[in-house]
Amino acid sequence: MSDHPAAAAPRPLASRTAQRLAGTAKVPGDKSISHRSLMLGALAVGETEIHGLLEGEDVLRTAAAMRLLGGTAEKGGDGVWRARGRGIGGLREAPDVLDLGNAGTGTRLLMGLVAAYDFVTFFTGDASLRSRPMGRVAEPLAQMGARIVARAGGRPPLAVIGTAEPMPITYTLPVASAQVKSAILLAGLNTPGITTVIEPEPTRDHTELMLKGFGATLKIEQVKEGRAVSLTGQPEITGRKIVVPGDPSSAAFPIAAALIVPGSEILVPNVGLNPHRIGLIETLLEMGADIAIENARVEAGEKVGDLRVRHGKTLKGVTVPPERAPSMIDEYPILSVVAAFAEGETKMLGLAELRVKESDRLSGMAQGLAACGIDVTEGQDTLAVRGGKIPPGGVRIPVKLDHRIGMSFLVLGMATTKPVEIDDAEAIGTSFPGFVDLMNGLGAGITASNR
Ligand code: S3P
Repeated sequence: MSDHPAAAAPRPLASRTAQRLAGTAKVPGDKSISHRSLMLGALAVGETEIHGLLEGEDVLRTAAAMRLLGGTAEKGGDGVWRARGRGIGGLREAPDVLDLGNAGTGTRLLMGLVAAYDFVTFFTGDASLRSRPMGRVAEPLAQMGARIVARAGGRPPLAVIGTAEPMPITYTLPVASAQVKSAILLAGLNTPGITTVIEPEPTRDHTELMLKGFGATLKIEQVKEGRAVSLTGQPEITGRKIVVPGDPSSAAFPIAAALIVPGSEILVPNVGLNPHRIGLIETLLEMGADIAIENARVEAGEKVGDLRVRHGKTLKGVTVPPERAPSMIDEYPILSVVAAFAEGETKMLGLAELRVKESDRLSGMAQGLAACGIDVTEGQDTLAVRGGKIPPGGVRIPVKLDHRIGMSFLVLGMATTKPVEIDDAEAIGTSFPGFVDLMNGLGAGITASNR
């Protein structure tokens, strides 16, 4: 995605009241796992086959970055992606700036990956990415010996001046962030000795699971500060087969839509159910949602299942505790939409991190919901939604380059009295290409808006 003057004109969309949603919603591959599979695939010796890679803009940017760094990543005629690497230590200096578009995950993980190499890497992205703080990654990487030169507030464009003599560190995360944890572990790959990250609150563990799958030595133990992950540096990692499950953060949108549109029943097959990603499902079940997990299984080290979702019982408001935030950090925008249809108040606590996502999601949701006629209160790190009445809608919401804000308001429009519009659909392609067709295939009414 780009905000270059030559970029395409904004594409406004309108979502009107849906009658009932029915059918099967096959959501695209997990974004977190897709980024990681391209990165590790381009490091491992030999070929890595990636089945079900998310072909969203964010992930395609990572594929391009890995090619600039000397790896390969191509899609075969059979739809399977194949990556080839030169082993840990085998990356080369990129001949150009890495433009990661809208992708915070791609940027932060790659900053780690290149920090322990004796060359300089330049990073930039779109206006959203250029407003995001990277200091949280720069700080531990500097402790390992890299230098990061960035704009004020640690914002991109930035340069990572890698080090020829990286030092292993033990680092306790000051914020619960899988991106920071992963950046340090990826830097630890080309660092002699043992790199340890301690997380006071556990976050998604895709990096750990995948590193183990590739043959790295990883020790995970509970220490008094939290969960400690220790990686032995400079392992020999070899190519393997990866099966990327459907993204639970994308599945959240059809699931929420089925819960707010009366008469709906849908099946969302092959959804990743990593225990660190299912806070939304836990919360929706507490609210009284009818969601059944069928065919639970483990595929390539990750838990997966099919979700059957039925509209039915009246949902009730709940309090979502702050310690649940890491397991549903990307799902608060869509949860706040569902909360508008639940009786009573839903209070979401511990949301400070939402302010530094692709946009300030806390104020974006609070303002957008209020504009749609919903009773909300925005706190510094809290959001309260009082629901139960059908909201009027009838407004256009600014997406601010944030895919999850865009999709959340399109889902809201499926159950408001008047349509809800978003000012630009472009960002949705970063994580969920095909979102509009998939939702319309279930019975939604999302159309271009030329108002
Ligand atoms: C991600 C971690 C989360 C999440 C992001 C993906 C990852 O970010 O919001 O969409 O793949 O590691 P934080 O680490 O900033 O919480």
